[in-house]
Amino acid sequence: MKFISIQEAIKKKKGAVSLRGWVYRERGSNKLKFIVLRDSTNIIQCVIDKEKVSEKEWNDANKLLIESSIELEGEIKEDERAPTGYEVKVSKLDVVHFAEPYPITKDQSIEFLADNRHLWLRSRRMTAIMKIRSTIFGAIHEYFRKEGFYEYQSPIFQSVQCEGGSSLFNVPYFGKKGVFLAQTWQLYAEPAIFSLEKIYTIAPSFRAEESKTSRHLTEYWHAEMEFAWATFDDIMNYGEDLIKHVVKKVLDNNQQDLKELNRDVKKLEPVIKKKFPRMTYDDALKLLKEKYNMKIEWGKDLRTVEEDKLSEMFDTPILITRYPKKVKAFYMKEPKDSDPKRPVVNGVDFIAPEHYGEIIGGSERESDIEKIKKRLKEDGEKIEEYEFYLDTRKYGSVPHGGFGLGVERVVAWVCGLDNIKDTIPFPRTMLRFKP
Ligand code: 4AD
Ligand code: MG
Repeated sequence: MKFISIQEAIKKKKGAVSLRGWVYRERGSNKLKFIVLRDSTNIIQCVIDKEKVSEKEWNDANKLLIESSIELEGEIKEDERAPTGYEVKVSKLDVVHFAEPYPITKDQSIEFLADNRHLWLRSRRMTAIMKIRSTIFGAIHEYFRKEGFYEYQSPIFQSVQCEGGSSLFNVPYFGKKGVFLAQTWQLYAEPAIFSLEKIYTIAPSFRAEESKTSRHLTEYWHAEMEFAWATFDDIMNYGEDLIKHVVKKVLDNNQQDLKELNRDVKKLEPVIKKKFPRMTYDDALKLLKEKYNMKIEWGKDLRTVEEDKLSEMFDTPILITRYPKKVKAFYMKEPKDSDPKRPVVNGVDFIAPEHYGEIIGGSERESDIEKIKKRLKEDGEKIEEYEFYLDTRKYGSVPHGGFGLGVERVVAWVCGLDNIKDTIPFPRTMLRFKP
């Protein structure tokens, strides 16, 4: 008989089924053995009756430890006492592999689980998160392709910084210096908008930030887009639309997984229905002053505490624009109406609700080559290294811009997780690079 998944068997409700998977739980008496079987789709209780199977099958069943792999045949029927409401009466059992005693048992420390990450991936919790993660990656590709963007790849070994030299990972490169892991695709994406006009990617980015927070990874997946003829509004609209699309896809496809994670889905529903509030940096300072009496000196970047306070006021992501020029990257455009005494840039940060922080950073790109050079010099950069980039402003320069979305930040928020580490199979942080 053809194997079907546990989920398909449950849908079928009754009759003969063939299943395969891993032993999730086991207990038994001298007559009956209860096995909860696990596969990628669900779990189901299976009962082996000594009277109904061969002696070999009964002996094998009694040797099964957690995570042994098995194949079985039997009759499925409803049983409200069983964990997922159905039970299989086993008529045939084949053990594929007898597992050794499984190191992961109940109530183990976070460190122990991190050391055994390769095994912890089998947990129901990690399985649910990884399924949602898969939906999110799929939804991002789907969104950009539907909007007419080409998928485009930039190098991971790079020779320029884009988001600040302090968070670069230096790589030894055949005895040469000045090679870094990508912080972003951006400087290698801008040259390509002159051929493809609308491009996107999902790729790893690397940040050597010495931050041991629940929001920072040293290696994360970055969904980035860049396009020609962009207005600042277009950039923000794409970002908002993308997030709506991603959240909708998860709500459509992953209800069972969200339930496994005890995620309150009502908190995600406004994201699809409501327009995201947009405010300037100045508005944000005003709001913080009025509501929480938090006084922030103009020109200071918003810190986590301030972003968190702002996020508490809304049930959707919020967009903060027109940041002081000096707290943002060199490539962000200074709009025409920027006050020379308090210069600002057309940069935007999307702050997620529920204290999940910045999920998107984007901007219109500066077109004035002299302003870019001046700023790079102020940042202590060698202009020669940026020649290739500056050429984008020499031959048919057009208004353009884009953004980057931190995929793990979005996964953490959508799943309602305490820590970004659980959003990715093998998290890399300042203190963790094994297994
Ligand atoms: O705001 P960032 O630094 O922007 C850029 O890199 C631009 N070049 C993107 C662009 O316009 N193409 O990073 C973008 C996003 C942040 O909003 C955040 O969600 C995520 O990347 N991010 C991180 N995620 C996890 N761990 C880290 N250490 C992150 N640093 C940034
Ligand atoms: Mg940012």
